[in-house]
Amino acid sequence: MPLISFDLALKHLKDADVVAIPTETVYGLAANGLNDQDIAKIYALKNRPKFNPLIMHVPNIAMVNEWAIITPLAQLLMQEFWYKRSASISLVLNLKQHHPLSLLALAGLNTVAVRRPNHDLALKILDNLDFPLAAPSANKSNSLSPTSAEHVLQSLGYDVPVLDGGECTVGLESTIVDLTKNKMILLRNGAVTAADLKEFGEVITVNTNTAIKAPGMLKRHYAPHLPLRINVIKKEPEMALLGFGNCHSADLNLSPSGNLAEAAANLFKYLHQLDNSDFSSIGVSPIPKYGIGEAINDRLVRACAHG
Ligand code: TXA
Ligand code: MG
Repeated sequence: MPLISFDLALKHLKDADVVAIPTETVYGLAANGLNDQDIAKIYALKNRPKFNPLIMHVPNIAMVNEWAIITPLAQLLMQEFWYKRSASISLVLNLKQHHPLSLLALAGLNTVAVRRPNHDLALKILDNLDFPLAAPSANKSNSLSPTSAEHVLQSLGYDVPVLDGGECTVGLESTIVDLTKNKMILLRNGAVTAADLKEFGEVITVNTNTAIKAPGMLKRHYAPHLPLRINVIKKEPEMALLGFGNCHSADLNLSPSGNLAEAAANLFKYLHQLDNSDFSSIGVSPIPKYGIGEAINDRLVRACAHG
């Protein structure tokens, strides 16, 4: 297994190679965000549609300020969520007119999504580089996001270099908020919820049927290979039941104590596990729709959608 050292990961990234790196949400397939050729390797490995832009991972606000316009609202949200709350949020900002970012990574947009990961190893990598890391989740497009080094290798193949940082503690991709219109438009649910954002002003949630601004918003996404059903109360023959809370017939339980944060952290891991089993379908117990439960339900609904 090509699990590589910190120093080698840094060297690869400086030498134009991709490396899968841990973050607190999911593993990212990282490359130099200024270099089109490096970014092309990400798209190729993931089979990712080229119109799908990547998040730029940064060590601090100062780097963002080099190429994006930081409005007072953006500054406030970065201070609050990146530094004070150590929360997982990506902000979409307008770019400055001249910027060095890879146009391929931006997929032709004049906006950029930025995120400061809350993971020691990821931050240490970023602190040692003078460029941002573009990093989508380190899995083939439209498949389950990886929350461990092993998931990355299973999805992308055993020759992809991975910096192993253990299991991701959050387990769901970051919340994405578009600030380019100087208001908060929630593009993707995550650990930071609309309720958290409302403290800072009006939050607009977009209807996923009318706008595809973030591919996390594509109808089918994050899907296992086995058919998936949600809100399952009673298990069917040959169905693996992914339980939540007090659920005796569960084959795996996202959180026996009914803790939503724990369920989020286990979601992709357990879906991976059940997807690699001999069952013929996966059922998931009802998950409450508040807090990060909203994001869990959102991912599950997409994983069930056909086509
Ligand atoms: O937690 C995360 O965000 C993980 C880890 C690795 O950081 N990354 C991740 O990346 O989930 P990815 O590529 O799977 O999802 C990035 C999302 C996509 O839905 C993309 O469309 C959206 O961010 N995005 C990127 N740039 C954008 C932009 N300028 N405007 C709107 N959406 C954007
Ligand atoms: Mg993804």
